[in-house]
Amino acid sequence: MKSTKFGKYGGQYVPEVLMPAISELASAYESYVRKNQDGFMDDFFARLKKFGGRPTPLYKAERLSEKYGKEIYLKREDLVHGGAHKLNNALGQCLLAKYMGKERVIAETGAGQHGTATAMAASYLGLDCEIYMGKKDINRQRPNVFRMEINGAKVNPVERGSGTLKEAINETLRDWSKSVDTTHYVIGSVVGPHPFPKMVRDFQSIISQEAREQIQEEVGRLPDSVVACVGGGSNAMGAFYNFLQDDQVNLIAVEAGGKGIETKLEGRIAHHSASLTIGREGVLHGARTKILQDEDGQIVESHSVSAGLDYAGVGPELAYLVDEGRVIPRTIGDKEAIEAFFLLSEMEGIIPALETSHAIGYLENHVEGDLGEVVIVNLSGRGDKDVETVMEESHRLGIKNRTTDRVGRGI
Ligand SMILES: Cc1ncc(COP(=O)(O)O)c(C=O)c1O
Repeated sequence: MKSTKFGKYGGQYVPEVLMPAISELASAYESYVRKNQDGFMDDFFARLKKFGGRPTPLYKAERLSEKYGKEIYLKREDLVHGGAHKLNNALGQCLLAKYMGKERVIAETGAGQHGTATAMAASYLGLDCEIYMGKKDINRQRPNVFRMEINGAKVNPVERGSGTLKEAINETLRDWSKSVDTTHYVIGSVVGPHPFPKMVRDFQSIISQEAREQIQEEVGRLPDSVVACVGGGSNAMGAFYNFLQDDQVNLIAVEAGGKGIETKLEGRIAHHSASLTIGREGVLHGARTKILQDEDGQIVESHSVSAGLDYAGVGPELAYLVDEGRVIPRTIGDKEAIEAFFLLSEMEGIIPALETSHAIGYLENHVEGDLGEVVIVNLSGRGDKDVETVMEESHRLGIKNRTTDRVGRGI
């Protein structure tokens, strides 16, 4: 059997009822994705191009470059159909479901971008689609809830626990354990039991495949660093994967520092989502990985202003790469992320997703020596969905500019 692990991380920690589905998926992954059986990968790449709008540009952010005295390139995943990198994976998995003869797909979503991408791909391929989403996330990402429904998906609110991504994944796994014969679970990040972390990474690795060629065309060499935000880790793994062998390229994973990683646990509540930086080894959602947990090993509630980074775990391959010293984990807090949201919008005419704003915020708040001269930032998604949250949170955090001032005056 092919390895299900990354060093000590990963594996398949699932209840007995899910094992047949996981095994069926693992063998479909080996044949269709790894060995291109029936031309699956050719079909996938062709559809990514026609339906997804790939390749995405690698765009030199001229004014940011000038501001920071570096060459800053943005990999424009915000221009993928649907507005985020999430479609790369959702389309791959929905297509795989089709090849496997499934009629229905289910998915969890945090920021709603993965749910939206899955709903779009399902509608495009003629599959039934149901999405599980935490109550808190439904409230903070309303535009995406409408988008999923308009694309024909049923959105199921999840009220348990903190009403965020962790509970949404639990509910989707519960559905899957009852519906495996007809249904494929389109997981939204490089998390979960094998083969999900490898499969999602493979579908997302198109990001670094394109970026590696594009940067060499632009500047005649590899970048000094690649920066990406991390929720579960799919845009980061996609952006890093084809640079893993290039030791001179720093790979920087930016997690949500929330209200500060030095803040203490309050009961079972953490004020950040920095599982790579200060998480401890444990098992969550079918995989061994780094997790935010209390002294008794209970998983705690995470926090981030951005729904898509608000997760107590992280992909097992990233946990492994951090231990190996290949990926550098860093954190950016709620306030710095919102400041970066405004900065990119004002200086480059691009409104980034709040998740992505953490990666942008790292340019301003970086550790000396990390970035070098030529930097690629993975612009994982666009921020239209976040405008309301940004207005509310800016007020709370005392961020002042023309927009927040006008809103503050009730105009
Ligand atoms: C635009 C965007 N970027 C990043 C993320 C974080 O997910 P991941 O770490 O899997 O890329 C999300 C999750 O919803 C997202 O919507």
